[in-house]
Amino acid sequence: MAKLSGTAIIVLVMFAFLAEQSVAGRYYDDKVEDKVRKEVKNAIEKNPGIGAALVRLVFHDCWVNGCDGSVLLDKTPTDGLNTEKKAVNNIGLDGFGVIDDIKDKVKNDNVSCADIIVLAGRDAASILSGGKITYPITRGRLDGVGSSAAEADRALPTSDFDFDQLKTNFDSGFRKFTVEELVVLSGAHSIGVAHLSSYADRLTAATPDFQIDSSYRAALNATTPPALLKQGQDPTVPNNVRDETQAFQQKAEYDPVAMGVNPTKGVLDNSYYHNTLENKVLFKSDWVLRTDGEAAGKLVEYRDKPEEWNKDFAAAMAKLSSLPAQGKNLEVRKNCRVINNQY
Ligand code: HEM
Repeated sequence: MAKLSGTAIIVLVMFAFLAEQSVAGRYYDDKVEDKVRKEVKNAIEKNPGIGAALVRLVFHDCWVNGCDGSVLLDKTPTDGLNTEKKAVNNIGLDGFGVIDDIKDKVKNDNVSCADIIVLAGRDAASILSGGKITYPITRGRLDGVGSSAAEADRALPTSDFDFDQLKTNFDSGFRKFTVEELVVLSGAHSIGVAHLSSYADRLTAATPDFQIDSSYRAALNATTPPALLKQGQDPTVPNNVRDETQAFQQKAEYDPVAMGVNPTKGVLDNSYYHNTLENKVLFKSDWVLRTDGEAAGKLVEYRDKPEEWNKDFAAAMAKLSSLPAQGKNLEVRKNCRVINNQY
């Protein structure tokens, strides 16, 4: 047998290690990751909607000052109670209780709250996609000590953005995301819910350009008329018309099977692209993706190539989860809701 050099042996051992990890669909055989996954699985079993909240939490934490757990703080010495949770753009943000439960389970493992958010979001994406979306997460993030509602409102995109605003938002400061990644990540809107206030502009829009497709709009106007907002009510509906009742879908003239969409409710998949291209989506920020040549091409590509979207979504989530904390003063928080000197 030919003699192998030391370097060749190291390379072979590394390949064997990586092959074993990916065959198992896991990247680390790690008790912390096991604990996180178990908690996320239990939480989704109890409340299926919490999975979408955990995926969104990754975006809303990492987009504002990097992945630093700032979105979890209830108060800080500088902003008092006016933390990111109070931001208008964080409407409906949820999943905080699951993060607390996980923190409790890993309290002796020196895991930051920022790490818990990205691990939990990764597991939620994997569970909701039936194991089709997986990606490695490297731990070692630290938690920030600041959290400001005003800063979150400046950083996070809103549902009434036009394409140029979205493009600029995704490629600004420490966030360097391409148009392709904007289109890829927007596919997260195949799951979860939205408040009426987030899409009412598309029900009342004067020009057809920004109106939701007429039958879907009629169905939404019947269940959640914009007038409710004036009465102080802001109900939620599924982000994805696929997740609506059959009666609603009939009114909305939405037949998932005829459209080539998997009708199983709650699945994180490429249904968003089928819906967007038919204008059966809620947000203006989704619908405007068709107004740019490159983005429109990607909408079609991801509609037609579900496996490619799974792969690209996983890569974009991994990139999102790696955005470095921007603050200088960092720690591993003992309680995800307060910084250590307030613990
Ligand atoms: C492209 C710019 C984006 C805009 C303008 C936007 C806007 C919104 C809005 C307005 C809602 C509904 C909030 C509510 O009314 O309760 C929402 C929900 C959601 N978003 Fe986004 N989003 C964007 C990108 C993303 C990204 C990058 C992700 C994840 C990677 C994401 C994941 C989600 C999820 C999962 C929900 C449902 C949350 C739940 O049910 O709890 N969004 N988004």
